[in-house]
Amino acid sequence: MMILKKSAVAILLFCSVSAYAQNDKQIIVQTRHVSLVLTIGKSGRVYQSYFGKRLLNTADYAQLNSTKHEAYITGGMEDQFEPAIKVTHADGNPSLELKYINTISSHSGDDATETVINLKDPKYPVEVALHYQAFDKEDVIKAWTEIKHDEKTPLLLTNYASAMLHFDAKKYWLTHYHGDWAWEMKMQEDELTTGNKIIDSKLGTRADMYEAPLFMLALNKQADETNGEVVAGSLAWTGNFQFQFEMDEHNSLRVISGINPVASEYHLDAGKTFTTPAFIFTYSNQGKGQASRNLHKWAREYGITDGTKPRMTLLNNWENTGFKFDENELVALFDDATKLGVDLFLLDDGWFANKYPRDNDKAGLGDWEENKAKLPHKVEYLVKQAETKGIKFGIWLEPEMVNPKSELYEKHPDWILKLPNRDENYQRNQLVLDLTNPKVQDYVYSIVDNMMTNNPGIAYIKWDCNRTMSNTYSPYLKDKQSQVYVDYTLGLYHVLDKVRAKYPHLLMMLCSGGGGRTEYGALKYFTEFWPSDNTDPLERVFIQWGYSNFFPSITISAHVTQWSKTASIKYRTDVAMMGRLGYDINVKKMSDAEVQFSKQAIKNYNRLNNVIWYGDLYRLISPYDEDRAVLMYVNDTKSKAVLFNYFLNVRYKAQFNTVKLQGLDPQKNYKVEETNMMDGIKSNFNDSGKVYSGDYLMTVGLNLSAGKILPQTSNVIEITQQ
Ligand code: GLA
Repeated sequence: MMILKKSAVAILLFCSVSAYAQNDKQIIVQTRHVSLVLTIGKSGRVYQSYFGKRLLNTADYAQLNSTKHEAYITGGMEDQFEPAIKVTHADGNPSLELKYINTISSHSGDDATETVINLKDPKYPVEVALHYQAFDKEDVIKAWTEIKHDEKTPLLLTNYASAMLHFDAKKYWLTHYHGDWAWEMKMQEDELTTGNKIIDSKLGTRADMYEAPLFMLALNKQADETNGEVVAGSLAWTGNFQFQFEMDEHNSLRVISGINPVASEYHLDAGKTFTTPAFIFTYSNQGKGQASRNLHKWAREYGITDGTKPRMTLLNNWENTGFKFDENELVALFDDATKLGVDLFLLDDGWFANKYPRDNDKAGLGDWEENKAKLPHKVEYLVKQAETKGIKFGIWLEPEMVNPKSELYEKHPDWILKLPNRDENYQRNQLVLDLTNPKVQDYVYSIVDNMMTNNPGIAYIKWDCNRTMSNTYSPYLKDKQSQVYVDYTLGLYHVLDKVRAKYPHLLMMLCSGGGGRTEYGALKYFTEFWPSDNTDPLERVFIQWGYSNFFPSITISAHVTQWSKTASIKYRTDVAMMGRLGYDINVKKMSDAEVQFSKQAIKNYNRLNNVIWYGDLYRLISPYDEDRAVLMYVNDTKSKAVLFNYFLNVRYKAQFNTVKLQGLDPQKNYKVEETNMMDGIKSNFNDSGKVYSGDYLMTVGLNLSAGKILPQTSNVIEITQQ
């Protein structure tokens, strides 16, 4: 956030009144199709008067002046439901009242407008600024809050939401996404009832594993992909989050999104500003599909690193070799990578540590020098060899963690999060470093920086984080232990800021024992994420479907592996092709036919990746509704589309209807051609090569289920304007 000098404030205040305020009582935050209207009441408090479809006539906004719902409700005053903010002042007074001071608006680029509503307590020197950054074309709003004060002793913050939204609908349907390791993003939709429904996590180093910091809320009636009013929300925070959906006796719903207040009391020093993470949300009155497309567009433009730039296909060695390899074996794998035709080789876990070699997950984490037995000529040699063979090289790091069996643990016991007077508590035999400590932040940064300085040819980093926090205590924070969760995440962001400042375009995969860190707080620094360690294509259809609600395909790493013992190489590949395609497979064990198919598939992917990465996603048939999943990507000009059809474990004599396509131009003619076909695998699509109008394809549809359907079969269909 830019700090504004007084003179600049005056100019912007003027701008804001002329451009954004309908009158001196109203503040309008709006995008192309969505508006959020706030009203300054007689009391000086600010109310949310409207949130939904943008009105056609600006004059109509004057009617929206309800003061039923205070926009950012404070704790300790007259409201008896959950507050957005709750503080205790230096004198012990546990209340806050917020009254309007002014609104400041500014533009960043053509697309984004930031509105800052400054509020202040009339009796205590506490100020709160509500920030709303509205992205016009994407219909996305990013909301966050800044809190500061000038009291004599630190202000105690117990609740400090990023945003609060109010709804007055007849009914509310909440979809949330839950799961576990290797079982991520299970979608569940329920009608909300009176009371408070909380979706949250308390895992410390990551936001999700059991619950993801993502939701869709349908208003009035259940929404589907093309119909209904939907709000899709996501908290950009790599740590404990909480969404509260509290429905009162009048059927009003308040949605409070932010850092989880549980065990997170924050002591804010005078003169310092506490900035909450951003709550990123969109509204659609055309169902969930449009909400997803809004978020995808926003993410590519603003939410992730280089979202409009290409990614690389790769061969990873984790599922193939595990920890067992040496440099000669790796160089031989480079040949497999070139044989397939991928862009990059990714060396996974197991390449480092000498006193306690990293030969399994019990030792070595923290000691980031090359293992002399496995890599006598260091990473440098591998980078060179890769270069000679015409591919790029990438490497796995898990910089935030330490095994007790490591030199790092021996040298710096005070750099580790662990409770005094208690046994150490391990997950995967490891502990978490204390990233609240600036010295540890420097050390973690140096792991990446040394690697890149010594090996500037490295083109890709997989950044892992394989445990959550438990039995947590920070030796650095001393008597401020309730800040450990928040300060850890801020420490991580500090490190990532430095990494990105020096290596702005390095491809980086965000991984956390599978999909533990799939949220926009961390993704801002990364180019893609690892959705799940589960790479069984059948499971991946569901997992990737879940993520596709919030994340564009360019961010979703999807590898062809040997996890499934039943799926054909074609099915595994077709499923991985809906994301950022990669391989983690023993190429030597593949048959000639499988290698030939894969080589061609990578060529096909390279031909189609523009549409898959940057196109608009239309989810046509959900695997939650039928024994198949069908989705398609359409490019900007609607001249090219790619459709993926995945049959699940269909039953004997299963029958399916034709599939109506979406997103095409009804006036254009399109040729539909099946690609990625494999000898010996029968297709259930008989119409390859035919030409149809967009109107026909969207009104009548395609028959993707001709003849007898076998379980776990699939089609990739290229749709090209004629
Ligand atoms: C985690 C990741 C895997 C792999 C291993 C290595 O489990 O999710 O992809 O990198 O760590 O130990």
